[in-house]
Amino acid sequence: MKIKGGKFLITGGASMIGAQITEQLIAAGAREIVLFDNYSLASPEGLGDLVQRPQVKLVRGDILRTNELHDALEATDGVFAVAGFLTLPMSANPHLGVAVNVQGMLNTFDACRYRGVGKVVFSSSIAVYGEPTADIIDETTSWTWSRLQPGAALYAASKIMGENFGRLYHDRYGVNSISLRYSSVYGERQHLRAVNSVYIMETYERLKRGERPIIPDDGREVHDYIHVADVARANLMAMESDVSRESFNVATGKATSLNELVAIVQKIIGSKLEPEYKTPPGKVRAAVSTKLDFAVDKSERMLGWKAQISFEEGIRRLIAWHEAESRKVA
Ligand SMILES: NC(=O)c1ccc[n+]([C@@H]2O[C@H](COP(=O)([O-])OP(=O)(O)OC[C@H]3O[C@@H](n4cnc5c(N)ncnc54)[C@H](O)[C@@H]3O)[C@@H](O)[C@H]2O)c1
Repeated sequence: MKIKGGKFLITGGASMIGAQITEQLIAAGAREIVLFDNYSLASPEGLGDLVQRPQVKLVRGDILRTNELHDALEATDGVFAVAGFLTLPMSANPHLGVAVNVQGMLNTFDACRYRGVGKVVFSSSIAVYGEPTADIIDETTSWTWSRLQPGAALYAASKIMGENFGRLYHDRYGVNSISLRYSSVYGERQHLRAVNSVYIMETYERLKRGERPIIPDDGREVHDYIHVADVARANLMAMESDVSRESFNVATGKATSLNELVAIVQKIIGSKLEPEYKTPPGKVRAAVSTKLDFAVDKSERMLGWKAQISFEEGIRRLIAWHEAESRKVA
């Protein structure tokens, strides 16, 4: 599918990831971009100048209301299905989280079927793997959810359901779709709902206040942090490709420990404060491991996508964005 001249709808369009996809769709020459969002988690204010772009149309709508989806999807070429509850909001509100991630995704595929949408790119997550025991985690690695906290397990299960609605609608009704399994996304428009990336902001804020950084356990916990611009680029490439019915890891393939993360933030802002090692009790956590190796060769081979933004560059961009936002408020 061609992006240039096309009409696209983004469910959860006011989100961190939806906003980046919008920026890249505009740059790629899309004719119209409908941001379909009920503003339950994010708001149009967070979109900034994007709302003034002539290609962008804001539609307040809920993926749990099929009539609103059907109306908004008129003559749409492709849908980026981004709306969803992450582990933290899922733990806080499982009724609504399960409804949005499961029933909402089913509604989205159904509406795309009836509206003849050419392709759906679904925002899935590496959370689907749980805490895998495999050395290298590729798209065929089995899911291991038994040791997960309940919120993380519910989230993982909801994303597996979303992916399989896609496969089912492909097989039964010919709806094209791709599922992108993002690792820990961070970057501009960072919010406080993402359990791993929120730690970057917490660390930065503490250091700015002159407080010592707090590192849980021994700091060897690792995550694969992917910049939101790389994630948005994967979405556009998935939409453009002829591939359907497949899932892809959208990760850097590099693990960064909390110790390394803190050192990078300290280097950027010039702090030498000694970290304090302590684990806050009762915190909601995603899967925790000291080794993580996501295979990204399938994404490279079949979509031509590979992460481009290094963690240090991404953190510099995030901090610059955060500072610019703080100046607007002051
Ligand atoms: N942020 C990450 O680290 C990460 C990692 C893996 C996967 N994902 C997935 O990517 C997607 C976007 O993540 P994000 O961090 O940008 O999320 P976000 O929390 O910023 O955005 C979710 C958006 O969905 C909207 N929404 C919620 N319920 C809705 C409904 N019923 N109808 C319409 N809109 C609704 C919210 O208002 C919000 O704008 C989610 O599906 C998430 O599960 C995110």
